[in-house]
Amino acid sequence: MSPSRATGEGAFRALWDTLLPIGRDPGTGGYLRYAWSATDLACREWFTAQAAARGLAVETDRNGNLWAWLGDPAATDRAEEAGDVGDAVVTGSHLDSVPYGGAYDGPLGIVCGLLALDALRERGARPVRPIGLAAFVEEEGSRFGVACLGSRLLTGSLSPDRARALRDRDGVTLAEAMAGAGADPAALGPELDRLRRVAAFVELHVEQGRGLAELGAPVGVAGAIWPHGRWRFDFTGEGNHAGTTRMSDRRDPLLTLAHTVLAANDEARRRGAHATVGRVSAQPNATNAIAAHASAWLDARAADEDTLRALVAAVQARAGEHAEMDRTAVSVTEESATPAVGFDPGLRDRLVKALGSEALGSEALGSEALGSAPVLPTGAGHDAGVLSAHVPAAMLFVRNPTGVSHSPAEHATDADCAAGVAALADVLEELACR
Ligand code: GLV
Ligand code: MN
Ligand code: MN
Repeated sequence: MSPSRATGEGAFRALWDTLLPIGRDPGTGGYLRYAWSATDLACREWFTAQAAARGLAVETDRNGNLWAWLGDPAATDRAEEAGDVGDAVVTGSHLDSVPYGGAYDGPLGIVCGLLALDALRERGARPVRPIGLAAFVEEEGSRFGVACLGSRLLTGSLSPDRARALRDRDGVTLAEAMAGAGADPAALGPELDRLRRVAAFVELHVEQGRGLAELGAPVGVAGAIWPHGRWRFDFTGEGNHAGTTRMSDRRDPLLTLAHTVLAANDEARRRGAHATVGRVSAQPNATNAIAAHASAWLDARAADEDTLRALVAAVQARAGEHAEMDRTAVSVTEESATPAVGFDPGLRDRLVKALGSEALGSEALGSEALGSAPVLPTGAGHDAGVLSAHVPAAMLFVRNPTGVSHSPAEHATDADCAAGVAALADVLEELACR
């Protein structure tokens, strides 16, 4: 990892600053980059312009995911026709954000990918395989509810019919949003041929915890992703007057919702798992009316699938018990579920070896991890996790000193981001240039 212009802090800051203003809420400093919104289109234009400036060929797949290519991936197709497997090496992440989220979750992987390609050029590295940079649609599921929407459609784990009918908070379907943005919703669907081109996918991401900060290392490698999913709890009661309805006569769905939130917290703690209700809605949402309907979205994650399923079943059972007491009704819909991901061990070990002790900052001297890049598990979902069922996939993490994510407090220093660029360049060189 020799210092160079592309892997320097200055190069990172210069490119980062070109993306930073897009979709930033001036009040909170958080980001609103919903899929297929005008802001998302501006991010996509930014991607296309940056790729074109580097002479990369950009294509959009059936699901709206963007791919920029150094080298000709179609050559891979020709090789495949001859019986060989695809050999392209792809990096990338996503440009969308959670509502009022941080700047780094997603975009860091794209910006570091562009700079890693610059670094390879500066090093005079000669790729012998095509290198791709991908930007996946709606990884956060913030607009249409299903996380990793673009990669799920690409791999066929989400049906196009279900996807087209997904609605945002204003009732706009994905099909309508795509059409409004000039994309073709009829084209949605799996692209297994495209996936067959890919021999390895490596996503760089800001760490969403303090694992690297505690180890004193700027860059690490992902070990595994906890199984996780989203469940919508719909509560129905009876809308009525807040002043005139006796407490004993009420059928208040928000009361059942509140008990369910507490039950989720309790059941997760008992199991060493994670459960969050971060989104709720109430109708009519009036101060002086008992709600008629309410919904809560449960995000649940655990170290293994049995624990996750037991957790969700327990929360559902307790919601049902409270509904009976409150004389309300509750129904539960699984919106998405992602099984446990153990990244490809061979690829992970190649990354660890390629990074070696250089992934560790000088402040890590004396740490027990010295001599190899730290390998960290995570509770966060990623496109790399979805792709891992189809192609060897791996992830690099960049230190986040606050450990905070999905919030404007999410952070990584320019120096660590530059270390991420250098690490990704090393990995791409190892995978595509030898
Ligand atoms: C994505 O960041 C997720 O884990 O929800
Ligand atoms: Mn995220
Ligand atoms: Mn992300």
